[in-house]
Amino acid sequence: MLILSFESSCDETAVAVTENGRRVLSDAIDSQVALHAVYGGVVPELASRRHAEMIAPLAERALADAGVARSDIDAVAVTAAPGLIGALLVGVNFAKSAALALDVPIIPVHHVRGHIAANYIAHPDLEPPFTALAVSGGNTLLVDVRGYTDMRILGSTRDDAAGECFDKTARVLGLPYPGGAQLEALARGGDASKYILPRSHVASNPLDMSFSGLKTAVVNIAHNADQKGEELDRASLAAAVCSAVCDTIVPRAMAALDATGNGTLAVGGGVAANSYLRAALEEACRKRGARLFIAPLSLCGDNAAMIGCQGYYEYLAGVRADLSLNAYATMDIDSLTF
Ligand code: KG4
Repeated sequence: MLILSFESSCDETAVAVTENGRRVLSDAIDSQVALHAVYGGVVPELASRRHAEMIAPLAERALADAGVARSDIDAVAVTAAPGLIGALLVGVNFAKSAALALDVPIIPVHHVRGHIAANYIAHPDLEPPFTALAVSGGNTLLVDVRGYTDMRILGSTRDDAAGECFDKTARVLGLPYPGGAQLEALARGGDASKYILPRSHVASNPLDMSFSGLKTAVVNIAHNADQKGEELDRASLAAAVCSAVCDTIVPRAMAALDATGNGTLAVGGGVAANSYLRAALEEACRKRGARLFIAPLSLCGDNAAMIGCQGYYEYLAGVRADLSLNAYATMDIDSLTF
């Protein structure tokens, strides 16, 4: 089954062709990083405009790269939630037009389900049930994946996502948007023990996370140093941020494995590219004998192949939308209301 899939939830426009879920025939991406970097963050209106400019040429490219004709496409899949509403609407409306023109079904896909599905593409032997950690710029979730489309939230962030925390603290350290990868590079030369940063706990659900206190602590340290005329050890502060994020996420991921009783953790999303987090998860899983799957760097960030992959499993489960499909800025991963 060939699926033409679309992703436009934030600052990447992407179109892919996948076969039977896990085989990627093409994955065309236009990253808007340079466009938004000037403003220090994503400007939603600019993102929507660029999606609108890029989506048709990318669809042509995805079909050409895959070597398939329009008439070969069996279904269209699209990220319909969560994300920036204007950005999502570009993908949803284009996908609806494509489905109408090609006379094929349309499958709405939850973006974070896509991040989890990136692991199916990379790891042929991964099948539910497993526990998933989705860590990206907009979401930080621990999920009990009982089946390809049967999921329960175990824990989530109460405020900022881990990626947002990286991006905001990177900005305080003078790094350009999106700062996560550059903060990681800066941290290489630092001493994480030089700055003491908070590790928050959410009493009502030990698997929930919070990153806003960490962000505020970094802002305060930088302002204090500035006011006192002291030089900030940026590398050590960056290292302390990486360490605090790992200390927040990794024990909860292990507790999530305890809660589900399954011995497999799959990790996806842009922040899964962080080598400190990858190493800490590897170490923790090795100690407890759990199997660990992490999406490869090429599939950590937003892409349409992961949407086509999850779309395939949603299709098998009977998920369909019609031309009244809307986009939703927020939606829980375990209770889809498309
Ligand atoms: O998955 P993604 O491309 O977009 C969303 O769905 O949100 O994730 C983007 C996020 C950004 O916050 C970016 O700074 C972060 O992933 N990121 C990283 C690294 N690479 C990307 N954060 C920490 N370390 C990295 N190496």
